[in-house]
Amino acid sequence: MIVTLTANPSLDRSITLAAPLRHGEVQSAAAAREDAGGKGINVARVVSGAGVATRAVLPLAVDDPFAAALEATGIETVGVPIVGHARANLTILDPDGTTTKLNLAGPVLGADDVQGLIDAVVTASEDARWLVLAGSVPPGAGPDLYVRVIAAVRDRWGDAAPRIAVDTSGEALHEAVAHAHPDLIKPNEHELAELTGSPADPSDVEAIARLAATLVPLRVGTALVTLGATGALLVTEAAVWSGIAPRIVPVSTVGAGDSSLAGYLLAESAGRPPEESLRHAMRYGAAAATLPGTQAPTPEDLITADIPVQRIPR
Ligand SMILES: Nc1ncnc2c1ncn2[C@@H]1O[C@H](COP(=O)(O)OP(=O)(O)OP(=O)(O)O)[C@@H](O)[C@H]1O
Ligand SMILES: [Mg+2]
Repeated sequence: MIVTLTANPSLDRSITLAAPLRHGEVQSAAAAREDAGGKGINVARVVSGAGVATRAVLPLAVDDPFAAALEATGIETVGVPIVGHARANLTILDPDGTTTKLNLAGPVLGADDVQGLIDAVVTASEDARWLVLAGSVPPGAGPDLYVRVIAAVRDRWGDAAPRIAVDTSGEALHEAVAHAHPDLIKPNEHELAELTGSPADPSDVEAIARLAATLVPLRVGTALVTLGATGALLVTEAAVWSGIAPRIVPVSTVGAGDSSLAGYLLAESAGRPPEESLRHAMRYGAAAATLPGTQAPTPEDLITADIPVQRIPR
């Protein structure tokens, strides 16, 4: 069982344009689609698509139209009642694959909403192998939301607590790494740079590996650092593996990181060794990038091309 928390879910509207986006002009869309989104839900959709049990926890008002989109995903969900409606995130796709994203803030959670969410995650985490805390923290929850969730889950389940993966950015990531020792983080190069306060140039993979290694194992158990079309790195206490991404024609890279995290967790949960789990992460990330919107890749979507993974000293 892989449990996810999506504290700030979104209705992802993806609009494909027939011509490049022109600021300030009226344009017609060539296609549009709508998916229940938010990073934890994206991860749960991929996990469920692979036939592995998953449960997605999220705040959800009883009258929120988001519930219909969520239902269409077919994933098991635990909705914690709140008053506001889930936000909409807009993705605009140019014909050449250029992506413009507009993310709204989301409803403000009160102190009781936040406590309800934490309690629901604790209950949902019983018998889970992984708990995934993914995406931004909603207004009102405070940047220490994930620190509080991690403390509550470990407090309640002790040695039987799930391992905890954090995929977020900014202050929420900083707080989790500073105070809660997550078992896994999944930063991209921008998030790693922000977290460490050092520049991370994706063309210098070894420098990024050294930067991530400053966090492992002192601050986090393992770091899965994704570098878009360049590839990804897996940094553990024992070693660093570096993988080169397969060449694909990207359609929408939104959600590639979520899919790669899901791919890693699926392989790790199946007992695969680290380098194979990294490869699986990259197969899922590449598959997500070839699908429109935040459509979740299934095992049939995975490309079979060889993915070179090299062990580098740490
Ligand atoms: N253009 C691409 N070609 C091949 N593989 C890709 C491409 N884009 C992404 N991937 C794969 O997906 C993984 C995750 O992508 P990326 O690093 O862009 O995630 P991210 O920045 O966290 O994205 P998001 O948060 O929007 O999901 C990469 O490590 C890579 O393996
Ligand atoms: Mg990401």
